[in-house]
Amino acid sequence: MPLKPEPKHDHGILKFPQGFLWGAATSAHQVEGNNVHNDWWAWEQGKPFDLRSGQACDQYHLYEQDFDLAKSLNHNAHRLSIEWSRIEPHEGQFNEKEIEHYKKVLKALKQRGFTVMLTLWHFTLPKWVADEGGWENGQTVKYFERFVRKIVPEIADYVDLWVTINEPGVYIYETYIARQWPNAKRSLWGQIKSFLNLASAHKKVYNFLHQSFPAGKPVGMANNILSFEPYHKHSIIEQLAVSLNDIFINHLFYFLTGKTHDFLGINYYFHVRFKHRMLLPQAVNTTAQTHDISDLGWEVFPEGIFDVLTDLSDDLPIYITECGIASTNDDRRNRFLITYLQEVARAIKVGVNVRGFFYWSLIDNFEWQMGFEPRFGLVEVDYQTQQRIIRPSAKVYAEIIARGGIPHNLMRFIGHTVTAKEVLARKSHP
Ligand code: FCB
Repeated sequence: MPLKPEPKHDHGILKFPQGFLWGAATSAHQVEGNNVHNDWWAWEQGKPFDLRSGQACDQYHLYEQDFDLAKSLNHNAHRLSIEWSRIEPHEGQFNEKEIEHYKKVLKALKQRGFTVMLTLWHFTLPKWVADEGGWENGQTVKYFERFVRKIVPEIADYVDLWVTINEPGVYIYETYIARQWPNAKRSLWGQIKSFLNLASAHKKVYNFLHQSFPAGKPVGMANNILSFEPYHKHSIIEQLAVSLNDIFINHLFYFLTGKTHDFLGINYYFHVRFKHRMLLPQAVNTTAQTHDISDLGWEVFPEGIFDVLTDLSDDLPIYITECGIASTNDDRRNRFLITYLQEVARAIKVGVNVRGFFYWSLIDNFEWQMGFEPRFGLVEVDYQTQQRIIRPSAKVYAEIIARGGIPHNLMRFIGHTVTAKEVLARKSHP
């Protein structure tokens, strides 16, 4: 049979590699609802009602519907997490019903043909673990390992990629520096111990997964990576601030955990510029200079994702495990998707081994200390009725996936046309 000629408009497509994973990410506490046995739930009870997770998106019951939506939007992969406090609500007592529940959830994903990326720890601790000191307590590493040894054999058949832990640095920052998360306190020693224990937990789980499942699936973790820049290119003080922050925020966890990564999971949200006043470098707000800003005031800076991808790139595959914008203005989400994905394509072109992109998030959800106000979803959630409403940007993303890249006709969303060739020929900072 003769090959079909390529449709004319395909020539302008900014192509992604074959087999690229396209999906969205969520985490259990943010979408499930009623996670009554964890530290977040306990902490939320002292907050105003609208800052409590409550029913959240009720995904605990509506998961099939949500997975159907993701499927209808052409996603071929999905990242989610399981909730430790449901599985082990009291020390050493495992709830078999909840284990069955997660089996059903993961099976539902596999039945729909998704590649499944599963996070084993995404910020919440069973209340009993938190009461014993949380990650500050060395025992927590053992507790976590025991939980993992229990749950993994039950669900391993339905998981394709493991994420041990999510954003250790953000956890430390929010708990000990910003002090907006459960068990918040000022303690440098606590902060150091928690970070080291998280690193140790990652290594132990990595080794367990490889020893017990020798032909196993790739294991990594999701790290929040920031793009740092000096305000003045030739300021030594600003350059020093960039290097130190890059080492401590972006690279330290990898340094502590050595070779225990089969891939790098990158969550990208932030770009920070350092400007010095007298001799002190300060992080400056650059949003005034950008066209777009999220509802949270976070700068939209697509070049930053190119920066972090090229900075982190070594011989390991990279998955963008989270990247997204909180906005009720969906045109912004369209621009966000197109311009960030252009930069990902450019990073691939210069040799970075990017294998997948998980937009944060599939549906609007409970954004931790900020409650339900931020709207990150490709799909809107009406929290009164739990109705899901597909946003136009979800369809733009669906079209990108269906075409295996960004077709030229979508450039209308960014207000100017730029050819695939032009994007790929860009110098580092266009
Ligand atoms: C990341 C978290 C995720 C979500 C997004 C907006 O830092 O991993 O749970 O809150 O930010």
